[in-house]
Amino acid sequence: MADPWQNAMDYAVAVARKAGAVIRHALQNDMMIMCKSSSVDLVTKTDQKVEELILSSIKEKFPTHSFIGEESVSAGQPCVLTESPTWIIDPVDGTTNFVHGFPFVAVCIGFAVSKELVFGVVYSCMEDKMYTGRTGKGAFCNGEPLHVSKQTDIRQCLVISEFGSNREPQVVSKIFSTMKKILCIPVHGVRSIGSAAINMCLVASGSAEAYYEMGIHCWDIAAASVIVKEAGGVLMDAEGGPLDLMSRQVVAANNRTIAERIAKEIEAFPAKRDDAPQGDTPRN
Ligand code: IPD
Ligand code: CA
Ligand code: CA
Ligand code: CA
Repeated sequence: MADPWQNAMDYAVAVARKAGAVIRHALQNDMMIMCKSSSVDLVTKTDQKVEELILSSIKEKFPTHSFIGEESVSAGQPCVLTESPTWIIDPVDGTTNFVHGFPFVAVCIGFAVSKELVFGVVYSCMEDKMYTGRTGKGAFCNGEPLHVSKQTDIRQCLVISEFGSNREPQVVSKIFSTMKKILCIPVHGVRSIGSAAINMCLVASGSAEAYYEMGIHCWDIAAASVIVKEAGGVLMDAEGGPLDLMSRQVVAANNRTIAERIAKEIEAFPAKRDDAPQGDTPRN
């Protein structure tokens, strides 16, 4: 059956490539670094410029569509997923990596219709890896099909997680407590790459069996979710239920057995949903 959104996906790939070139160029030049919710929640002029580039390019071609972009939400735009065709954008996933020249930075463009993800594009621009996933049509990296690992024994798994940017001691304690429980299963190892989207693409590629994080946002995971699913992986929340993009938590794994085992160890911490009404509390 013809895919009505193929054109949109091809366009997203071209826009992501252009955005990646802007990021690579910015690395060689002066960066203007600013802070958002705290001194470790960084944003640069490049994050804003790249989001503007992506938004204006897509709006020009699809003027009636809706948009959720990290930097627009930070500037006060709503973060609500409606039935309308919606682009979910993280212009620079791995801003801290970008600031330090740590070479894992991704442009993420996800697209949903009637609240269902249709495709996802993750361009790891320092590695020049273009990951794509289209619901029902598979996942690819630079055109090569992706498949998750076949491992079902948790003790032979490589697990990825992150520390995020919330440094409240009780939140950090829960992160370490979960990580300790997972390490002591024991798994082969725990890794931290600094980009939620690249982490998920590593699961989709079979290079790691699982990735989990509490405190992420919908733009961190929307595009990469399609890629994980289409590579044969599973996505769930920390209770083992279906993934809710707005819930600020994700478990992505090669199969249900591994995802459920990881979810069992997670010590959740309360985080304001992405689609909660905006108030005085920062989202971080
Ligand atoms: C962050 C990265 C990081 C993850 C954070 C995200 P940003 O995204 O994906 O790996 O730990 O939770 O916020 O802010 O660099 O786009
Ligand atoms: Ca950010
Ligand atoms: Ca991000
Ligand atoms: Ca970002």
